Amino acid sequence: MSRLLLRGGRIVDPSQKLDQVWDLLIEDDRVEAVGKDLPQDSDTEVIELTGKVVAPGFVDMHVHLREPGYEYKETVASGTAAAAAGGFAGVACMPNTDPVNDNRAVTEMILDRAATEGSVPVYPIGAVSAGSKGEEMAEIGDLVDAGCVAVSDDGHPVATSFLMRRALEYTKMFGIPVIDHCEDMSLTARSSMHEGTASTRLGLKGHPSAAEEIIVARDVILAELTGGRLHCAHMSTAGSMRHLREAKQRGVAVTCEVTPHHFTLIDEAVSSFDTNTKVNPPLRGPEDREAVLAALGDGTVDVIASDHAPHHADEKNVEYDIALPGLIGLETAVPLACEHLVHTGVIDVSRLVELFSTNPCRIMGIAGGTLEAGAPANVTILDLDRQAAVDISTSRSKSRNSPFDGVLLRGWPAMTIVAGMVVWRSEA
Ligand code: DOR
Repeated sequence: MSRLLLRGGRIVDPSQKLDQVWDLLIEDDRVEAVGKDLPQDSDTEVIELTGKVVAPGFVDMHVHLREPGYEYKETVASGTAAAAAGGFAGVACMPNTDPVNDNRAVTEMILDRAATEGSVPVYPIGAVSAGSKGEEMAEIGDLVDAGCVAVSDDGHPVATSFLMRRALEYTKMFGIPVIDHCEDMSLTARSSMHEGTASTRLGLKGHPSAAEEIIVARDVILAELTGGRLHCAHMSTAGSMRHLREAKQRGVAVTCEVTPHHFTLIDEAVSSFDTNTKVNPPLRGPEDREAVLAALGDGTVDVIASDHAPHHADEKNVEYDIALPGLIGLETAVPLACEHLVHTGVIDVSRLVELFSTNPCRIMGIAGGTLEAGAPANVTILDLDRQAAVDISTSRSKSRNSPFDGVLLRGWPAMTIVAGMVVWRSEA
């Protein structure tokens, strides 16, 4: 039996309403105890964590690992290494691979790769529809049986109201959420940025806020009709926040996530024509960013997820309107949240932990999100005072498509522990 004592850190665990400078004792792969001055014997390994935050392991519930099919952008091995280095003790991966994760064989292959080559656990998200084509429903029961924790046609919306209704009804049997990429594609064809004054000035075709909000409204109505669980991915507009706040007040079973790029950047960033600012949904207007910050503060937002979307340089070093959308986010999500949310007073540390750990685990029904005795010993340790610039050249990802290279941020992950093992530790 191995024992690891994390001594003298600030333990922040909203699942137990805990925020104390205490110790955490791990025995093998489980939390043994949290408390003041926990005893240690001679064979206990001790890590001193004075001044650090000790939290239940962060889980990024929106990641594109690209395997199978796009291994030149990312693999399970490289993506989970980036996750560990970003302070994440687990990731959920989206099904827009090639082939699409719409059947047991693909799910099992991803889980097998994760078991043999992964730095952190991987929770596959299966497709809602066969091939994510929006026609026939995928074999959702089989996907859940193989290990999928949710379904989504991410990259695309669930194509029709009929399919969304059936998916919400059917997933109720398995207690999993339907995660939707909310975009009315009839309004966004050939668009490459947010529709507003900046798109007009830059001469790029715009993606209106209404494209997102129409599908959010549709999905909320169908979640209410069916009683199914809806999770809205990468919410980016003021109108979406309004719909979601109101739906939650009415008791609809809806949760949502926002990304660090939507709470830090606005459409003006596109003026540089840096294709790393091209993302879907696009960077929105200043009033949208303000609304996202307000919704993070008032509890409307449940989760921060990176939407880590690696692309090869050749897919980005092209004209803006033909570049692929997406940016890598696993190693910058936590420092961006510390700098722009915690140090600015938008949220406190306990809410940060809720957004990165408690809530994603609860929504996906996975173990973790707590440091209660008996829980898996998955731990994220933060140094809220460390100040450093993002250096994308050191990323563990296979791709480099980040608009944050060189940006100075305060508050970084210091260590990631999975099942009692230190899987990553900052050299700083
Ligand atoms: O920017 C994005 N990239 N948004 C998505 O919805 C999909 C993702 C990808 O897979 O590249």
